[in-house]
Amino acid sequence: MTFNQRTVVITGAAGKIGRALAKEFAAFGVKLFLTDIDMDKLNQFAGELSASGADVHTYFMDVTQSASISSASANILADAGHVDILVNNAGCWPKGTAIETSEEDWENIINLNLHSVFRLSRIFGIEMKKQKYGRIINLSSIAGICGLPGRCAYSVAKAAVIMLTKTMAMELAKDGITVNSVSPGLIQNDHVPSNGTWLGYTGIGDDVAKAIVFLAADESGYITGIDMPVDGGRILGPLNPVFKG
Ligand SMILES: NC(=O)c1ccc[n+]([C@@H]2O[C@H](COP(=O)([O-])OP(=O)(O)OC[C@H]3O[C@@H](n4cnc5c(N)ncnc54)[C@H](O)[C@@H]3O)[C@@H](O)[C@H]2O)c1
Repeated sequence: MTFNQRTVVITGAAGKIGRALAKEFAAFGVKLFLTDIDMDKLNQFAGELSASGADVHTYFMDVTQSASISSASANILADAGHVDILVNNAGCWPKGTAIETSEEDWENIINLNLHSVFRLSRIFGIEMKKQKYGRIINLSSIAGICGLPGRCAYSVAKAAVIMLTKTMAMELAKDGITVNSVSPGLIQNDHVPSNGTWLGYTGIGDDVAKAIVFLAADESGYITGIDMPVDGGRILGPLNPVFKG
């Protein structure tokens, strides 16, 4: 895979998947522009990356606040000169059935998991249109494909992320910009045995990072509008199906 002098912006970069992603991009020499609300964690991680030779810059960005996004994005663009790859990774998955979720919580969960993707994609999409090149990759979830009882607002937001991805892929195709999403299943710190996936174990951040980096590579320019599950086969047919014929 090649990344010709590419730059990447990653939101929620201090988290499990964000950190794995930053490391994977760094291994390909991509310049890193990492954002989060947890600056202690982000800066500590960035220090480790920098010590291993990565070109890394950090920014406070609260993706639920337009003003925070605008000011951090302006700083990133000034420092980077150009942004080639955007990974909309920040998210959270609070519990709550449809009945239990208050209107306020509903709005907050949709704001963080969906509206943030719209806001960031607009800001950097405008810049990518000017340079006629871009890769936008959004974190959805298998909850956005199948639904996840007890995480209703999250499932709805992630389903909408997939449709935002498809629609923007069509809207931006003529500008040389691809837009894709990745839908992880359960991601943990280690490959833990699981009877919930066909592969028999849960995923780790690296599994998701490798899929995202593949979609971001120069060579992946003919792939747009897809959602790629990274779930050990979790959303395939039922495990141990019983056939009666
Ligand atoms: N871990 C999983 O099992 C899993 C499964 C499916 C999808 N996902 C999705 O992958 C993405 C990353 O998940 P993760 O497991 O790395 O989560 P994580 O909780 O480890 O990291 C999330 C990061 O987002 C940051 N964040 C939270 N609120 C923010 C805000 N308002 N503005 C900016 N940053 C904010 C947090 O500080 C944290 O660093 C999320 O979108 C999540 O929904 C994760």
